[in-house]
This record gives sequence, C-alpha cells and structure tokens, in this order.
Amino acid sequence: MHEGQLKYEGKAKRVYGTDTPGVVRIDFKDDATAFNAQKRGVIEGKGAINNAITAHLYPLLAEAGVPNHFLEQISATEQLVREVSIIPVEVIVRNTAAGSFAARLGLEEGLPLAAPVIEYCYKSDELGDPLVSDSTPIAMGWASARELAELNSLALAANSFLLGFFSARDLQLVDIKFEFGRLPDGTILLADEISPDTCRLWDTDSGERLDKDRFRRDLGGVEDAYRTILKRVTS
Ligand code: TMP
Repeated sequence: MHEGQLKYEGKAKRVYGTDTPGVVRIDFKDDATAFNAQKRGVIEGKGAINNAITAHLYPLLAEAGVPNHFLEQISATEQLVREVSIIPVEVIVRNTAAGSFAARLGLEEGLPLAAPVIEYCYKSDELGDPLVSDSTPIAMGWASARELAELNSLALAANSFLLGFFSARDLQLVDIKFEFGRLPDGTILLADEISPDTCRLWDTDSGERLDKDRFRRDLGGVEDAYRTILKRVTS
C-alpha cells in the first residue's frame, strides 16, 4: 500500500488517505495527553493495544446493530476505516458516577446511576471540549434534531452491548465517550476508537482502575492496565 497523504493528526492518531476512495488508514500512536494536552506522555505499546481493542470490538458492535466506520486491521498499529466527516459532538454515556460528572455534582466516584446519563461535549481543543446542553448541537447546526436522536440511540445501544461484553470479562464499564461521523450520503456511523483512552473500566472484584485514569492521575502501572484490558477483551 502507498504511504498515503497525511490528512489529519490528532493527539493519539494519524489519519492517512489510501488508493481507495472513501477509505482512510488510521495509525494509532503511543502518545498520551490529558487535561486538554497540558499533561503529555507516552504509554509504551498503547498504539498497538488500542488498535487491537478497537478492531476486536467494532465488528461485534456492527453485529449488535451499531453501524461503524471500521473495515480491517492491517498492522499492529493500523486499521482501515470508512472516511466520514466527524460530527463535532462527543457523546458521553455514564453508568456510574466518576470523573467530571462526580466532581460537578459533588458525588463520590463509584455511585451507581439509576439510568445511563448522556452528556454532550463540543469537540474543540481550543475550548477544552466544553459540556453543552442537548439543544446546543441543533441550535449551532452541528447536528439536526433527527441526527441527535440517532446519536443518542446508537450511543445507548453501544453502551448496553459493551456493558454486557465487559461485565462477562470482570470489567465494569463506568463511562464511555463516543464519536460519530457522516458518510457523503448522510448515513451516520460510529467512529474513532473504543479503548481505555476513551472509557473507564474498573476490575469488577477489586475496583482497580484499568484505564487512562492511571495516566491522568499518576497512579502507575499504566502499561500493565492497558495490557490487562487487551487480554480480557480478546479472551
Ligand atoms: P470525564 O469524566 O473526564 O468527563 O470523562 C468521561 C469519559 O470520557 C471517560 O470515559 C473518559 C472519556 N474522555 C475522552 O474520551 N476524552 C476526553 O478528552 C475526556 C476528558 C474524557
């Protein structure tokens, strides 16, 4: 395959064009950032681990009724995906209070929520991905009311599938961030990655954090946690 032109470089991935129209190649990096890139580091082997976890989960999500951009893993750190234009809204689904939600409401982390909570953030590095209300994406023209309803139902369906998937592997899915994109014909697909960078996973028995919070909060054992998740996901 030709190298392909670099189309986009984010904090954790590079996206390249390919010889096939409508198909792009994602290369996952070991780079890690937190707090809107004020904290930077490297998690050794993260690129390969997140690529493998995402490549394992996306076909299962498609079978579970959540259409997504994934096509094929092509190397340790690379996968081919359908090219979409990313909707600039992060959809966060929370099953248990943690992180910014627990802080905002003065809750202890780990409090179970009676129903999943959906939150939206505006994807903007400059602004630090601010939380927005559910009418803002429509008012700003980031998504139509119909599209937003679809993002909601796809995010809840993906969350519900992943809750069961992780639970069967002794992992509690505390919360997760989803991103979506549009094909040229307007079809909405789940996009980006699903990995310990983009969700919180706690060991069911010990409550040990096995996700990026180990990096964010300097808890140590970051690489081991990512390897544990990969092993359980693919077991
Ligand atoms: P939060 O509690 O910090 O708002 O994070 C909620 C979820 O979103 C958590 O699973 C981690 C994920 N997340 C991202 O994927 N990217 C981000 O930039 C942030 C802040 C959180």
